Amino acid sequence: MIKEKIISAYETMAEKYNDLIEHQPHNAYYDRPNTLNLISEVNGKSILDAACGPGKYAEIFISRGANVTGFDISPKMVSLAKERNKELANFFVHDLSKPFKRLEAQSFDIVLCALALNYVQDWNLTIKEFYRVLKPNGQLVISIEHPFFEYNYFNSKTYFEIEHVTCTWKGFGKPVEINSFRRPLNECLMPLTNNGFYIDKLIEPKPTEEFEKLDPKHFEELNNFPAFMCFRAIRKS
Ligand SMILES: C[S@@+](CC[C@H](N)C(=O)[O-])C[C@H]1O[C@@H](n2cnc3c(N)ncnc32)[C@H](O)[C@@H]1O
Repeated sequence: MIKEKIISAYETMAEKYNDLIEHQPHNAYYDRPNTLNLISEVNGKSILDAACGPGKYAEIFISRGANVTGFDISPKMVSLAKERNKELANFFVHDLSKPFKRLEAQSFDIVLCALALNYVQDWNLTIKEFYRVLKPNGQLVISIEHPFFEYNYFNSKTYFEIEHVTCTWKGFGKPVEINSFRRPLNECLMPLTNNGFYIDKLIEPKPTEEFEKLDPKHFEELNNFPAFMCFRAIRKS
């Protein structure tokens, strides 16, 4: 099953992913600075880090005075997030595509879901759960692989479909097959606008200067065509 393959891939990569997260160019100098730019003051705010990975975003939010809860489908990622952040946040194993039963309605000011929704085939339940746990006017910040990038990268011929796609990642230890779902732009925005959100800001990010020093080839590519898309939606009251 696809989900088991996704879990197994992240269980295999978790340690290496955690070791590299500080300076891995696509995370540290492309996704994080652009996604964080969408999030306003976090001091004193309550934040859900959905699909938290090894807890790097959580660490940043905690250092800025936020109260953080995080979950991830990979048990190893959850233990690494706990190790990184000690008792300063609450992390547990959970699947984005299942109801968030442990989380109370209207309990978060901000929900972040970074680089993870590409692993969820049908976004509707997840977005409804984000709506439920957010306070009125709360912010939902999402980063994903850019739908136009994926369309090209996976050489798709059926833009309007949500397609199961696979590729091999070589940047986190031994090569690992990654299963995910490619979707058109409409399927990235409509699940939000149909479920109580309006889109407030959308960025097609550019890499920072540090990226160029570590990986000049991809720096140039990303300056000519985006690989990720970061956006912020507001929960209507
Ligand atoms: C590319 S990593 C991003 C991690 C973290 N958000 C970050 O940006 O550092 C993707 C994460 O999504 C998690 N993931 C994949 N499918 C998931 C699901 N259905 N529910 C929860 N987490 C999931 C993986 O285990 C992995 O930790």
